[in-house]
Amino acid sequence: MKTIIILAHPNIAQSYVNKSWIEALKKTNPEIEVHDLYKKYPNWQIDVPAEQALLIEYDRIIFQYPFQWYNMPPLLKKWIDDVFLQGWAYGQGGENLIGKEIGVIISTAGISDVYAESGFGTTEQLLKPMASTAKFVGAKYIGHHAFLGAYTPDAGERLTKDAETYTDFVTK
Ligand SMILES: Cc1cc2nc3c(=O)[nH]c(=O)nc-3n(C[C@H](O)[C@H](O)[C@H](O)COP(=O)(O)O)c2cc1C
Repeated sequence: MKTIIILAHPNIAQSYVNKSWIEALKKTNPEIEVHDLYKKYPNWQIDVPAEQALLIEYDRIIFQYPFQWYNMPPLLKKWIDDVFLQGWAYGQGGENLIGKEIGVIISTAGISDVYAESGFGTTEQLLKPMASTAKFVGAKYIGHHAFLGAYTPDAGERLTKDAETYTDFVTK
């Protein structure tokens, strides 16, 4: 199983959660490719053939990002729009993602009360477009991992404990 993380953080240098996750993963699983979209494409001009060729090499594709307005950061949305083309990702000849695994990892500022049915919706509900996208291209959606409440006083302690769950989600 070859895994790639498509990382979409607009400001990874200032990141707390996503940076910690990637640093932990690099120590335990240096073989996992981390493809940092905001670093690779500062001018947002995506090299579509290169991205498509990259994806073909991997069995599991994980999108990792901080939640922004209950959604993905805009460069990732553009990347999906540009890369998941008809004739490549779906439609006639569009069989390149069939059978691959797709998963999502998000961090949020909102705490668990926010991500409840009685709040703004569960993370599973809010990530439904990702599950549907995976289904549409014939991939298997493996679910998501979320770290909520990035700025609560106990976030540091929770994040340390979360490293193993995060790594397990990526690798198992
Ligand atoms: C433009 C913008 C929009 C955001 N929207 C949300 C949101 O809808 N829900 C939420 O819980 N946090 C939101 N946040 C907070 C980020 O999700 C949070 O800062 C991030 O997940 C923390 O991870 P990091 O330490 O890796 O940056 C937003 C942040 C920014 C900059």
